[in-house]
Amino acid sequence: MDRRRGGETVDRLMAQMTLAEKIGQLNLLAAGEGLVTGAATATPLAKRLDAGQVGAIFGTKSLASARDLQDRALAGSRLKIPLFFAEDVIHGHRTVFPLPIALAASWDMALIEATAGFAAAEASAEGLHQVYAPMIDVSRDARWGRMAESPGEDPHLAGAIAAAMTRGLQGDDPASPGRVAACLKHFVAYGAPLSGRDYDNASLAWEDLLEIYLPPFAEGVAAGAASVMAAFNAVNKLPMHAHEPLIEGWLRGTTGFEGLVVSDYTGIRELTAHGLGSPATVALRALAAGIDMDMVGEDYLAHLPALAEAGLDAPEAGLSVPAERVRALIDRACARVLGFKARLGLLGDPWRGLTGSPPAPDRAEGRALARKAAARSAVLLKNDGLLPLAPGARVALIGPLARDRANMLGTWSVSGRAADVTPLFEAMTAIAGRPPAHAPGCNLVEEDWLVDRLNVHGVTVTRDPRPEAEMLAEAVAVAQTADVVVVALGEAKEHAGESSSRLCPDLPAPQRRLLDALAATGAPLVIAVFAGRALALGGVDGRCGALLYAWHGGIAGPEGVADLIFGRAEPSGRLPVTLPAAPGQTPVSHAEDPTGRPWTGRFVKFRTGWLDLPGDRQPYPFGFGLSYTEVDYAPPRLSAAEAGPEDRVRLSVTLTNTGPRPATETVQVYLSDPEARITRPARHLVAFRQVDLAPGATREVVFEIGADLARYPLAPSLEEARWVRDPGRVVLHVGPNSRDTRPVELTWRA
Ligand code: BGC
Repeated sequence: MDRRRGGETVDRLMAQMTLAEKIGQLNLLAAGEGLVTGAATATPLAKRLDAGQVGAIFGTKSLASARDLQDRALAGSRLKIPLFFAEDVIHGHRTVFPLPIALAASWDMALIEATAGFAAAEASAEGLHQVYAPMIDVSRDARWGRMAESPGEDPHLAGAIAAAMTRGLQGDDPASPGRVAACLKHFVAYGAPLSGRDYDNASLAWEDLLEIYLPPFAEGVAAGAASVMAAFNAVNKLPMHAHEPLIEGWLRGTTGFEGLVVSDYTGIRELTAHGLGSPATVALRALAAGIDMDMVGEDYLAHLPALAEAGLDAPEAGLSVPAERVRALIDRACARVLGFKARLGLLGDPWRGLTGSPPAPDRAEGRALARKAAARSAVLLKNDGLLPLAPGARVALIGPLARDRANMLGTWSVSGRAADVTPLFEAMTAIAGRPPAHAPGCNLVEEDWLVDRLNVHGVTVTRDPRPEAEMLAEAVAVAQTADVVVVALGEAKEHAGESSSRLCPDLPAPQRRLLDALAATGAPLVIAVFAGRALALGGVDGRCGALLYAWHGGIAGPEGVADLIFGRAEPSGRLPVTLPAAPGQTPVSHAEDPTGRPWTGRFVKFRTGWLDLPGDRQPYPFGFGLSYTEVDYAPPRLSAAEAGPEDRVRLSVTLTNTGPRPATETVQVYLSDPEARITRPARHLVAFRQVDLAPGATREVVFEIGADLARYPLAPSLEEARWVRDPGRVVLHVGPNSRDTRPVELTWRA
């Protein structure tokens, strides 16, 4: 419990509360239809509020609705304990920013913090106290649809993002005006599901858990995150909603987290399907594991009263808990819920955050920020000098996403509006002063059943009824009128996100056929890919002169792309995930462990690799991205080639912008430890710095390197885990991405 604020109030309330009132505080419900006036106010939610059986509500859609619900809750609560309100504000609220994976591609922590700050201000103006963000699941599998929400493949970058978003959402204090509580999710290893299939379990070395999946949570906690959400998956056979060693052990014990842990949607009752026992048994297991609030399932409400009276003896699940212990666990969870409310300032003032003051921030400001964020998130993967487009060029814009609005928002835009999106066609028209020639070229996907699935949350994909050949012929004719053709391809918003795993994460077949037809015209092609994951683009780059990976960029996503295309903004995005060369090359990351027969980059018999991967297909590496200029890296230098364990060594590199345009360059430092007690990643990111370089400018970038950077975990089990650091040689690799680096060696003395 947080005792910095309201600790005494919490203790006083706890002393007065009945068991039923305490259990009521653990119940977290969806607003659903909310309260409606008149006779219809007897909704299931209203009845729960009248009985004092709700601790918090998520998914309210207006300040008025939140106020009504609070009113009702206070009337139903003997001790006048207020609700708090939560919502999924994942990449913006009303103002939808680029997807989290896109924002990660900016590698710009100040920008990410600013987007989170703006989202917090909008959310808080609508009566929200907590948002279910940041999502900080490291994700290395392009099949997994929730890569869209993730910070990408690397724990160091993800940790920086966890901290930046937490700062943006909470400021110094989540109870201060315009701020909300962050909720780190999904704890943990939700991004490592078997086969990339959403909700599936993770089986991984404890070392990987400690070094890849847990660090972003440690960073978020260190930044002060007030809450955490558990993940649906099991980790090494134990589902996370029952994972006491990781929640009470690692999260609370090792990181010192003192906030609130909420379940994910019906995650407690799902423990029964995981095979952990009866509904009552799993409710107790979740409570004991440290899940303080039960989202939607109402399993605590249903089972804790009887468990608190009789305890539980469930030898089949290896569980025997006396009633007294159950009551102590209920007290523990309730005190944490109240502690969270105290931290939000709600125990002192139940209307805190519900007055409409401060008002929502200026939407025009948000739009400008969203446009800047979109331009900084797009990654230029190839440019044969086609971009930026020459002024006066005759441009055609072809592709199924050329005039799209709704899909541009990306997944998790529950409060966004498609009408707020400026499509690429309009954005290009506005800058060029005249509309590009246009044809849709093909449908986004061809299968009717797939269209239905993509439209599950409202229609965002419609099909042109014309035969494909007719659409292709029209597109080819339009392309032939132009000097350059911009091709807008990619995924629908529901191609990615929750429950949207894909077997084959690449461009849908009709789009590939469109590309074939356009390439055959010989017209120079600029491809802009709008997607929610790392699509396999092997083969696509051979058909175009320029390739821009633009993700789903939110309300101003296409405007950001248009800014880049016409040279009104400089490309600076860098991939936060490796783009596989072929859809089956997944999971993949820059930080893989070496084998005894290492991958050479192409197929070699009796070495690791893929028989059916063509020799000319290479993944786009993590950290990769081009600018409209050239930045030269001089060889990196160390202030000492040998150092003691307490020493700091200076690693410097001199950069020169040798091209004609300004650059925002992200200098990246990777480390490899070629001789260790266990196999270590071939290389992994340990530091990065973003610097601006005017044309012709030279700048030295310095990193302070300490021995702690070479620490790594040894963990025969979670309980026996320890971090070690060996003396000896490490290699630091410095460069503009994870592949094109220069090495320098450093030896740590014992
Ligand atoms: C998702 C969470 C989300 C929750 C509430 C779940 O299905 O996994 O990320 O916060 O729903 O909407």
